[in-house]
Amino acid sequence: MKLEDIMIKRVSHAKFNEKEVDVEFLIQLLESAVYAPNHKMREPWRFIILDSLGKIQFLKDYLESIPKEDRESTQTLLNKLFIAPIILVMVMKKEPNIRDEKEDLLAMGALTQNFLLLLTSYGISSFWKTPNYIDDDLFKTTLRLSTDEIVTGMIMIGYPLVKLNPKTRKQARSKTSIYRSNDL
Ligand SMILES: Cc1cc2nc3c(=O)[nH]c(=O)nc-3n(C[C@H](O)[C@H](O)[C@H](O)COP(=O)(O)O)c2cc1C
Repeated sequence: MKLEDIMIKRVSHAKFNEKEVDVEFLIQLLESAVYAPNHKMREPWRFIILDSLGKIQFLKDYLESIPKEDRESTQTLLNKLFIAPIILVMVMKKEPNIRDEKEDLLAMGALTQNFLLLLTSYGISSFWKTPNYIDDDLFKTTLRLSTDEIVTGMIMIGYPLVKLNPKTRKQARSKTSIYRSNDL
């Protein structure tokens, strides 16, 4: 498939079937995704994979760490994401310099899109999510993030239950102008 076709075919998908996703294969795809552009080769990323066992353990650890009265609502919230067979957590190291951090966030976006396109090309569905709780200290501590790390995305991954059509976009042409000298 041509790269253009893969780009247009990619769609955020949250309905998965039972088919297992091979974690080693995902890591193999990440080996290519990390060739994303990144300034000064800071390679700001790291990844945490929650597979079926990891999801159960994480939910147990996280729910135990929060007040009892919040557990049910938090569990309901988390389940929206944790229905995916695999969750891949994209983690970035924070930079003291805001310009560096901006560049690193952009690099994370490039890397994430590389990864989503690779998944699409192998018929694996995904949904990039950034729920509010990714910034919650207890959530981050449970994931064993250090204080200078942030989550830039929780990627739901699995094989699709149904086929979804991509959403259409406004034409790039309608958002493009060609700069020319007034004298011409
Ligand atoms: C940085 C980023 C964060 C996102 N976070 C969420 C999210 O928290 N919840 C959600 O429903 N979609 C989230 N999305 C997915 C977008 O809603 C989705 O890409 C958009 O609707 C276009 O649909 P498509 O991906 O199917 O083309 C996020 C996308 C990006 C790039």
